[in-house]
Amino acid sequence: MTAAEIRQQFLDFFASKGHQIVPSAPIVVKNDPTLLFTNAGMNQFKDLFLGNKPAPYKRAADTQKCLRVSGKHNDLEEVGIDTYHHTMFEMLGNWSFGDYFKPEAIAWSWELLTEVYKLPKDRLYVTVFEGDTAEKLPADSEAIAEWKKHIAEDRILMGNKKDNFWEMGDTGPCGPCTEIHVDCRTDAERALQPGHELVNNDHPQVIEIWNNVFMQFNRLKDKSLEPLPARHVDTGMGFERLVRVLQGKQSNYDTDVFMPIIHATEKLCGKQYGQTEKTDIAFRVIADHIRAICFTIADGQLPANNGAGYVIRRILRRAVRYAFSFLEVKKPLLHDLVPVLAAQFSKVFPELQQQEDFVKKVVFEEENSFLRTLDSGLGRLDNITASGAKNIEGAVAFELYDTYGFPLDLTMLIASEKGLTVDEAGFETEMKKQKDRSRAATELDMGDWTVLMDQPSGIFAGYTELEMPAKVLKYRKIKAKGKEQYQLVLDKTPFYAESGGQVGDTGTLTFGTEKIPVTDTKKENDLIVHFVDKLPAAIDGGLIASVNAPKRQDTASHHTATHLLHAALRQVLGTHVAQKGSLVNADYLRFDFSHFAKVTDEELAQIEAIVNEKIRKNIPVVIRELPREEALKLGAMALFGEKYGETVRVVTIDPAYSIELCGGTHVGSTGELGLFKFTAESAVAAGVRRVEAVTGAKAEAFVTDQLQQFKSAKGLLKNPKELAKAIDQLISDKASLEKQLAALELKQVQQQAASLPQQAETVNGVHFLGAIVEAGNADMLKQFAMAVKDQLATPYLAVLCANVGGKAQVTVLVDEQLVKDKGLNAQKIIKEQVAPLIKGGGGGQPVLASAGGQDAGQLEQVIAKVKALL
Ligand code: SER
Repeated sequence: MTAAEIRQQFLDFFASKGHQIVPSAPIVVKNDPTLLFTNAGMNQFKDLFLGNKPAPYKRAADTQKCLRVSGKHNDLEEVGIDTYHHTMFEMLGNWSFGDYFKPEAIAWSWELLTEVYKLPKDRLYVTVFEGDTAEKLPADSEAIAEWKKHIAEDRILMGNKKDNFWEMGDTGPCGPCTEIHVDCRTDAERALQPGHELVNNDHPQVIEIWNNVFMQFNRLKDKSLEPLPARHVDTGMGFERLVRVLQGKQSNYDTDVFMPIIHATEKLCGKQYGQTEKTDIAFRVIADHIRAICFTIADGQLPANNGAGYVIRRILRRAVRYAFSFLEVKKPLLHDLVPVLAAQFSKVFPELQQQEDFVKKVVFEEENSFLRTLDSGLGRLDNITASGAKNIEGAVAFELYDTYGFPLDLTMLIASEKGLTVDEAGFETEMKKQKDRSRAATELDMGDWTVLMDQPSGIFAGYTELEMPAKVLKYRKIKAKGKEQYQLVLDKTPFYAESGGQVGDTGTLTFGTEKIPVTDTKKENDLIVHFVDKLPAAIDGGLIASVNAPKRQDTASHHTATHLLHAALRQVLGTHVAQKGSLVNADYLRFDFSHFAKVTDEELAQIEAIVNEKIRKNIPVVIRELPREEALKLGAMALFGEKYGETVRVVTIDPAYSIELCGGTHVGSTGELGLFKFTAESAVAAGVRRVEAVTGAKAEAFVTDQLQQFKSAKGLLKNPKELAKAIDQLISDKASLEKQLAALELKQVQQQAASLPQQAETVNGVHFLGAIVEAGNADMLKQFAMAVKDQLATPYLAVLCANVGGKAQVTVLVDEQLVKDKGLNAQKIIKEQVAPLIKGGGGGQPVLASAGGQDAGQLEQVIAKVKALL
C-alpha cells in the first residue's frame, strides 16, 4: 500500500464508525499563549474538551500536521540521528467528545490495526497506566479489562506517569493513556529477546505507533487535577511510523513518504543515501526539515528573529548546516526540494503547491543569507586560528552560535579540525544567561481562572451591538513583562477580540457606578478575554459593556478598505498575491502580501484608483453566514494558515469584485470610507511586500498635510509652474556654487599659507610654527597644513589651529626626520597633548594628525604646550 492509501484507509475506517472527517488545523497556532505550533491532533479540540464551547459533532477523525520542536514536546535533537522521530509529522487521530469511551476506542484501534491493516497480533504490545500515588490516581483497570478482550495478558504492560499519562502542556486537558507498540525486529532477533523488554526502551525497531488518551482532567496552574465536565477520547497515530511498519521498512525514511525527497537530494548533491552514517544523517535531517520548513511557511509563518519564526529559521539552518558540512553542498539546495514536496502533498495539503513559488523564494533567500553568515563565521574561526590561540573561549563560541548560527557541535567539529579546544562550560554559561534574559522578557504568568458562573461563554454580539448588559463568568490574574493585569470572560460581549489582523476593541465595563476601562480584547482558543488593569469591587453583580464606538468605526473602515485593497492588488499585480499579514486599527491599515518586486508608483496609483472608484460607487457590504464548502464554491477568498469552521462568515463587496471569508467588523457600504490613500510601500522579507494606507478622516488629514507641505515648498520657491523642475534647478545651482566656493577657498588657503612659514621660530634647532588660522572646516585646515608643509625649512614641527564656529580644530605636522631621530610623533601629540586640552579626540599618522574638540578657547595653550615639547 502506498502512504496515500494507508492514510485514506484510516479516514475511511473512522468515517464508517460515524466520525466526521475534518481538515487539519494550521500547523502554526494562533490564539493560544501556551503553544507556538500544533503539537498534537487534539490541539484544535482543546476547547471542546475543556467544555468552553459545545462540540459541533460527537466524533471526528483527521490527519493533522504537527510540529514538535518547542515547549513540552520537543524531539528536534533526535531528528535525523534516529530513524523514527520527526519535526513535522502527520498525526492520524480519532476523537470522541463526551461520546464513546474506553471500550470502543480500544476495540476500534485493535480492529483497524489487525483486521484492516492486518498487522500480526504477535508483534503488538500495549501499555496501560499503572496509577500514581502522588497524584492520587488509580491504575487504569478499565483499560486493562478492555484489552484483555483482544490481546494476550502478557502483552499488556503497565506504564508510569511519564509514558502513560498524557498532557498537552504544563496546563490543560489530560488523562491516562494506553499506547500500542509494534515489534518490527526479524524473527531471529525476536527469538533471542522477548519484545516486551524493549517496549519504551528507545529500540529503533520496537516503537510506539498509536496513543489512545482518555481525557478526564484539566491540569491547573497549581499542578492539581480538576475533573473535566465530560470524558473524551483523543487518539494519535504517527502516520510516518505506521507507513514504515506496513511497508515493512526498517526506517521511516525508507518509505514513500520520504524517499522522493531523499532521491531529489541525491541528485542535487551527487552523493548516495546509504553509504556512510554521517551522510545518511544529513540526508534524513534534510528530508525531515524541509517538510517542517515548507508547511509552516505555507501556513503563513515566515522565518524571523523571534517567536515561531525563529524556530523555523533554526530548523532551516540546521538543515543547511548538515548539507554544508556532510553533503559538502556550499550553495542553496533546500529550495530545489520545494516542488518535489509540493507535488507529493498536492492532494492532502494543497496549500503548499498553491504557494510553491512563494515558499521556494523564501527558502532560497533564507539559505542564501545563512550561507553568507556561515562564511563569515568560518572567517572568524580562521582569525582565531591565525592569532595563535589554542582555545575558543565560551563567549566566542556563543557569539558564533548567536550571531552566525553555529551550534556548539559545529564549532567543536571545526575547532578539532584546526587543533583547537572549545570552552564548553563557558558556552553553557553564556547560553544560560541568554535564556534567562529572554525568559524575563517574555514570561507570561497566568493564574487559574476563578469561576463565578459555570457555563459556556463568549457569545460575540458586537457585529450588531456596541453596548449591552452582561455578567462576568470567570476571571484571572496575569503577569506579562512584569505588568499585572486581569482577564475577564463575560457571558456575552460586544467587544471584538483581536483576530484576522483587526485589533481588539477597547471600551468600558460599568459595574454599578464603577467604570473599569478595557485596555484590549483578545481570543484565547475560543474564549473572548477582556483585559483590565483592576477588578471591580462588585465583580459578581451585573455590568454594562460598552465599546469605544468612534474607534471601532474607524477600525471597521480600515477593515473594509483592506478587502477593497486585497482585490485591487490581485487585479493589478496578479493572482499570486496572497495575504501574508494584516493589521487593521483605527489609525491605519497595514497589509503584507506575497509579491516578488517593488510595487511601482504607477501600480500604486492604479490600485488606489480602483479602490477609490469602489468607494465612490458606495457598494453595500453584504455579510452572510454560509456552509464553508458553499462559500468556497462562490470563489470566496480564504487565507492560508487560517482555521475555518463548518459555517463561515462571508463578506461580499460586489460579488464580481471581492468575496472574502472574514470574521472582522465592517462598514455598511463603501461610501463610508470617503477616501483611500497609500502612505507607504516597503519590503518585509524575501518575496513579501508591505503597503500602508489610510481612509476617511485619516486620509483627509494625510492629503491635507501633504498639500500643505507642497504649498509651502512652492511658496518658498516663489510659486514656480513646475515645482519638481524648480527644485531640480535649485539642486544643480547649489552644486555648481559649492564647486566655485571650494576653488575660492583653496586659493585663499594658499595665499594665507604663503606668509605663514616666515612666522616660524627656531626652538632647540627645530623650526617651530604655531598659528591660529582662518579655516571653515577640518578639511580646509588640512589643506593649510599641506600648503605650509612644503615651504617650511627642515626639521620642522607645526601646529595649525582654527576656531570653527566656537569649536576647536587642530592639525599637527612633524618632519619625518624628527619622527625618526627624536621620536616625536604627530599622532601621539594629538592624542596626549592636544585632545585633552580641547576636550575632543582625533588621530592620524606620525607625520600628520588632527583633532577636533569642544573648546576653541584653548588654542593658544595648545600651541604653547606643543612648543614646550621642544
Ligand atoms: N494527544 C495524544 C498524543 O499526542 C494522542 O493524540 O500523543
